[in-house]
Amino acid sequence: NEVDPVHKGHRLGRKNSGAILMRPKVAPFTELMPIPPVLQPSSSANGVDTYRIDIRDATAQLIPGFTTPVLTYAGSFVGPTIRTRTGRRVKVVYTNRLAAPANVHLHGGHVAAVNDGHPMDLIQPGQARTYEYPNAQQGATLWYHDHSHHTEAEHVYRGLHGFYLIDDPSEKRFALPSGQYDVPIMLRDAAFDQNGGLIFFGDPAERTNFLVNGKLQPYFPVAARKYRFRILNAANERVFRLNLGGHQITQIASDGGLLPEPVRMTEIVLSSAERAEIVVDFSRLPIGSQLVLHNGTIPVMRFDVVRNASDYSLVPHTLRPLPALPPASVTRDITMSFDLSGPGPLPVGLVNGRPYDPNRVDAQIRSGATEIWNVSNVDTLPGVIHNFHLHMTHFRVLERDGGPPLPEDEGLKDTVFLPFGGRVKIQATFGGGFTGRYVYHCHFLEHSSLGMMAEMEIIP
Ligand code: C2O
Ligand code: CU
Repeated sequence: NEVDPVHKGHRLGRKNSGAILMRPKVAPFTELMPIPPVLQPSSSANGVDTYRIDIRDATAQLIPGFTTPVLTYAGSFVGPTIRTRTGRRVKVVYTNRLAAPANVHLHGGHVAAVNDGHPMDLIQPGQARTYEYPNAQQGATLWYHDHSHHTEAEHVYRGLHGFYLIDDPSEKRFALPSGQYDVPIMLRDAAFDQNGGLIFFGDPAERTNFLVNGKLQPYFPVAARKYRFRILNAANERVFRLNLGGHQITQIASDGGLLPEPVRMTEIVLSSAERAEIVVDFSRLPIGSQLVLHNGTIPVMRFDVVRNASDYSLVPHTLRPLPALPPASVTRDITMSFDLSGPGPLPVGLVNGRPYDPNRVDAQIRSGATEIWNVSNVDTLPGVIHNFHLHMTHFRVLERDGGPPLPEDEGLKDTVFLPFGGRVKIQATFGGGFTGRYVYHCHFLEHSSLGMMAEMEIIP
């Protein structure tokens, strides 16, 4: 059992929202899963595509019969997808039309510090800000989301999240499913009040409604062939344990891009912010059959096989080797925990025993250095879980709990799950020539907004 001390057990600080929970009385699989719109650049010149996005209030129909006030990128509860390719430069001009400061972090992006959406580097209401992304990294499923300190949890929960996909021309030779057969799927949870409003100041355990690309438990019609699904756990604080009732799932990529070879499994575990790209083969299922994606035993969405289609796609035996792992010159120990002893109604999130302080550098790292970090969940209240996210680079999981990594630790990772008592040994190269201040933190956003975050400085 997973416990959240922010809301349960010792402290019930945020429990009293005054709102009354609504369990939508909607039969599952009545709504079509939408695919977030792909944004077109507003201009392209000199090899740079420029996109424009307003950060603004809007309403969305998340559950049938209700209109929910949300925060959006460009009016869309799952923000528009930015789809670019390796080596193509992108600028995104964000205009903050909210009443509160906001900012935008490209999660998984290798970007200069000034473009990273540092938690203290905000876009004030009415202001615009241009972020530049070099996309000098291999193809991957990234996402963009708010990262304004103390408010990131609420902003993301209310809708400030979207896909950012980097296609990689060098991956064309694999003939993986593409085009309409390459589908991003954002999973998250939500709690609703009686008017259909999102309840944020509640217990995350009450967020029992699963939204898939912004719709409650939808269905998605598929052809009897292979699909590539890019699955993102965009929930603030949840571990999804996804299965198709025993049907084979072939994982081809994790956070930072393709795995060295496909991994066949029947369950895939994703903590908040992790991604997995999977290939699902519907070709042996007769027209009319249905496959339900479950989180454990709870249905999340349904795939309906509705037609035949030709399929020239392949899942090759080998994909892309991971980049070489240079020897590490520095080893650090990183601990994640809560301080429950304070007088306030809320606990304080800690990294290495200290809450986030933007004026303190917790780790100074030489640009280009390779380091090993031993990251552990040292909470003592049984059941408390965390995860760990590192900005600016990707890492490899070398060990978990002193043994080999789990299947979900495979590949180039930027976020890794830390169950109660869990520890991982990771190795990263802080390359790309970037210098300046970045953060690392728990990606259970209620935890990071309570301080479970630290500052690193990359020095020349
Ligand atoms: Cu997805 Cu520091 O964030
Ligand atoms: Cu945490």
